[in-house]
Amino acid sequence: MKIEFAATLPVADALVIPVQKNGLDTAIGGRSGQEVLAAAAAAARFEGEAGAIAEAFVGADGAVNRVLLLGIGDGSETDWERAGGAVTARLLTNAISAAIDLGAVQPSPAAVGRFAGALAQRAWRIDTYRTKLPEKQKPTFAEATIVGAPDGAEAAWQHNFAVTGGLDLTRTLVAEPPNVVYPETFVERVLASVDGLGLEVTVLGPDEMRELGMGALLGVAQGSAREGRLLALKWSGKGAGDPDLALVGKGVTFDTGGISLKPGPGMEDMKWDMGGAGAVVGAMKALASRKAKANVIGVCGLVENMPDGNAIRPGDILTSMSGQTIEVLNTDAEGRLVLCDCVTWVQRTHHPKAIVDLATLTGAMIISLGNEHAGVFANDDALADQLLAAGRASGDLLWRFPMTDAYNKLIDSPIADMKNVGPRGAGSITAAQFIGRFVENGVKWAHLDIAGMVWADKAGNTYDKGATGFGVRLLDRFVADNYEG
Ligand code: BES
Ligand code: MN
Ligand code: ZN
Repeated sequence: MKIEFAATLPVADALVIPVQKNGLDTAIGGRSGQEVLAAAAAAARFEGEAGAIAEAFVGADGAVNRVLLLGIGDGSETDWERAGGAVTARLLTNAISAAIDLGAVQPSPAAVGRFAGALAQRAWRIDTYRTKLPEKQKPTFAEATIVGAPDGAEAAWQHNFAVTGGLDLTRTLVAEPPNVVYPETFVERVLASVDGLGLEVTVLGPDEMRELGMGALLGVAQGSAREGRLLALKWSGKGAGDPDLALVGKGVTFDTGGISLKPGPGMEDMKWDMGGAGAVVGAMKALASRKAKANVIGVCGLVENMPDGNAIRPGDILTSMSGQTIEVLNTDAEGRLVLCDCVTWVQRTHHPKAIVDLATLTGAMIISLGNEHAGVFANDDALADQLLAAGRASGDLLWRFPMTDAYNKLIDSPIADMKNVGPRGAGSITAAQFIGRFVENGVKWAHLDIAGMVWADKAGNTYDKGATGFGVRLLDRFVADNYEG
């Protein structure tokens, strides 16, 4: 989507007039077609609620202009974001251009940035495999001109433009089918997408990972015909040196459960079991695109969890890169096996002060929080608070869970250092405790279980049904607020 800022209204397929809650008279007073607009608003019972739209066609000088009255609620940033998404949802397949007249309302620069971001973000979709999509269902909306924006709005949009590029990458990786995106092609896609942005890239294959002793990650990969990969993208926006922050993502490109095979119905969902890795690369792309003044590394553990003759079995004991041994009781608890070696690798090679991992780690997370919040688990209150705040600011919401020694004990094994599953209760917490055992002393760490957030059955403000890109805006906000000072 091309978004421009202008001083005067251009000719466009649709004119968009933002309307505050109960602010209809102010918004349309004195405009041509005022009566028609008032009638359209009344017919639609439009009251300026955020994201509500009333549409009308207004005749002027022999021409007919399409006008959208756009509700912006109380005018909060979230309301503006909802409004932006609503415009794109409405125009996506039936207009090419829109002009948005901010004249009668006075949004803050940040609100306009959110609005523009939502306009662009709501346009993402994946039509690659629809060979018979009727012409009139193809997206057309490509150009929005914002008129009357305050100083600073364009800079806020430039920031969100970078974030949108990252989000689009994440969503595409998440939505692509698992025969197309697997560890090797995940890496290829990402490298093509971030080419020229100045990220320092490391890719490890099975031989290198074996050399490093990454027996946990490789254990998961060994049941698949596809080789595993570790992908690292380092952004040094503050100058050379170790990164302050490491982002680590679970990238299971398909999770059958392995020998502890999942039931058939719904298994196709497990194509998005790489949503953590997807969010990490999307965030790294956003940071590099906007040249963030921070040093951050993103690490993805990429494997396919399959059940072949070489697959790991329940009862197998794996030795992780840390040297700690793991009794595998359930091969479907594979995410933690992938993450633990990535966490060890990034600490040994890059010495970050803080680590945030993202993973579609447990079904139990969806039982506790549904699809409204991701869970956050942390060994540091300040880090947890920073993430919770970034969640509220970005719209990628988080809710904190406890971690204690009592939970940690639940994954002690009688034969190895730990087992990869605990008892039935508190499954998301014991999964977090498992990863926590690989975090070195003095390193601040948080784990985000995003199992309920990566894929949506209904459209949200900034996405349609399907891949949400959860985590990209959160991580961008978290870095902007805490690492670029
Ligand atoms: N990828 C799944 C978790 C998941 C399930 C994410 C549904 C999104 C939707 C993970 O690898 C898994 O299978 N976890 C098991 C853990 C259990 C065996 C302890 C689970 O949640 O059932
Ligand atoms: Mn699993
Ligand atoms: Zn999984």
